[in-house]
Amino acid sequence: MLVSKAVIPVAGLGTRLNPATKELPKEMLPVFTNSPNGEVCLKPLVQLIFENLHSFGIKEFCFIIGRGKRVIEDHFTQDPGFLQILRARGRDKSASDLKRFYDRLESSKIVWVNQPEQRGFGEAVLRGRPVVSGGGFLVHAGDTYIISKNHEYLTHLVNEYQRLSADAVLLLKEVSNPSQYGVAEVERIGGDMLRVLSVVEKPQRPQTNLAIMPIYIFDPVIFKALENTRPDRGGELQLTDAIQKLIEWNLKVYAIRLRADEVWLDIGNPEMYWDALSTSYSRAKTPT
Ligand code: UTP
Repeated sequence: MLVSKAVIPVAGLGTRLNPATKELPKEMLPVFTNSPNGEVCLKPLVQLIFENLHSFGIKEFCFIIGRGKRVIEDHFTQDPGFLQILRARGRDKSASDLKRFYDRLESSKIVWVNQPEQRGFGEAVLRGRPVVSGGGFLVHAGDTYIISKNHEYLTHLVNEYQRLSADAVLLLKEVSNPSQYGVAEVERIGGDMLRVLSVVEKPQRPQTNLAIMPIYIFDPVIFKALENTRPDRGGELQLTDAIQKLIEWNLKVYAIRLRADEVWLDIGNPEMYWDALSTSYSRAKTPT
């Protein structure tokens, strides 16, 4: 596959979810899903993201991690003794689910890169450079998940990246409160493909209601753009500002929209987490 590497930043402080995330990484918070035998189960969001990308065909992962986040690394370290305990206690289904996760780990290359200071999503992505250099790669935030049949949004992103020889392909969704997100201005260029004219991070007066989902495909030129982007007033390097830089450099930035039947889960703040729990539970109870 053309895009076989992913950078997944999981180093953020998760301050909006304090005190729950003081010691527990936000990305380890669980949402509901189905185990392979169809039962409802709870799974850490970051495991769900990894398994989804792995089944799509991504096999090289670069997690950007920080202090207090080692539990994620532990979760992604195989534990044969625990598997034995589960089996000895008759928890065979649970053991086989865990074994399936471990098999996926076994068939992946995973690199852990430290972000010593939490200087923003963009700075976290920049730290992935030595691991993913050389071709197109996916960036996926660790606190977002899209429920989609057959990875449609991922297939669409990768296909358009290839077809248009793009420098970046973004995933957009119409929202009622765009000023909380990165927002894109676009023009239609045929079919459901969009050319991105400008992007702004959390604008006070958004020009559109198209929020940028934190899942992207980039050419490595994004690293150059990040290096040439200044941190925002809060001292954070924003990926959205680097995307704007690509646009100013007349590079090819395109976007697709999330389809109506694809469900976006975000666990960034308490209300969103509640929504993610209730939506994922309904979906797991009655899978479509
Ligand atoms: P957020 O933008 O939600 O930031 O991160 P945050 O720091 O985790 O949370 P708040 O705003 O303090 O509540 C989006 C994704 O980017 C990662 C986070 O771990 C999350 O997966 N991130 C963010 C980093 O890896 N490093 C950063 O410096 C910031």
